[in-house]
Amino acid sequence: MRRHLMAGNWKLYNVTAEECEREAKGIAEAAKDAVCEVVLCPPFPFLSIVKKAIEGTNVKLGAQGVFWEERGGFTSQVSPLSLKDLGCEYVIIGHSETRGRFGVGSVKEELLFYFSESDETVNLKVLSALKAGLKPIICVGETISERKAGKQDEIVSYQVERALANVGDIEGIVIAYEPVWAIGTGEFCDPDEANRIIRLIRNKVRELFGDKAEEMRILYGGSVDPGNIKSFMEKEEIDGALVGRASAKAESFG
Ligand code: PGA
Repeated sequence: MRRHLMAGNWKLYNVTAEECEREAKGIAEAAKDAVCEVVLCPPFPFLSIVKKAIEGTNVKLGAQGVFWEERGGFTSQVSPLSLKDLGCEYVIIGHSETRGRFGVGSVKEELLFYFSESDETVNLKVLSALKAGLKPIICVGETISERKAGKQDEIVSYQVERALANVGDIEGIVIAYEPVWAIGTGEFCDPDEANRIIRLIRNKVRELFGDKAEEMRILYGGSVDPGNIKSFMEKEEIDGALVGRASAKAESFG
């Protein structure tokens, strides 16, 4: 039986120490009787503050990203060893916003290069996170043009396969199906369709890793909020959610 996971990707929604501490404490209070696992992924500078705020509660700490090298001349990057040392258990890898595949936003096409995480770097990060003892939450999902072209199944399967290349054991790995067009747009995926794609992801993982696929948690993400969460959690294939905007405030994430 897979335990549901609710992961909060705070992105840049809580951006001061005071906000992070307040919301983390509020969420921990709301989650004290939660049957699901709860994870918060604050911005890097506030990992320690959130760690302290959730101490002794059942909320766990995650980071929004990681670099694949442990040490060296890599200005601005964050080592998997640092995340482990700071008490992170999870790390988000391959989010569409770090793959430069924004659903909405003001970023010009030519600037997307600077966020250009690729299937290859996603894979390097997955391998390095696993080596450090971190649990990757790997994001996959199609853009609106890919969906309009009917390519969503192909794209998602390909991303899953590439992200898991050279992985020996998938224990601890979480996948989040996040259609890019549903992220931060308020336009969420039909729960039956999310369920279908998540089944497809599990079938792909089964093809690659056999029955271990049954233990892997596969989440839905993209405009999840208090009004629609139930309709996703009712679906048999969906093992939880990766929540952005609605996770930043205790009132909604709680
Ligand atoms: P959203 O973000 O809930 O704000 O759509 C989800 C995500 O990007 O993980």
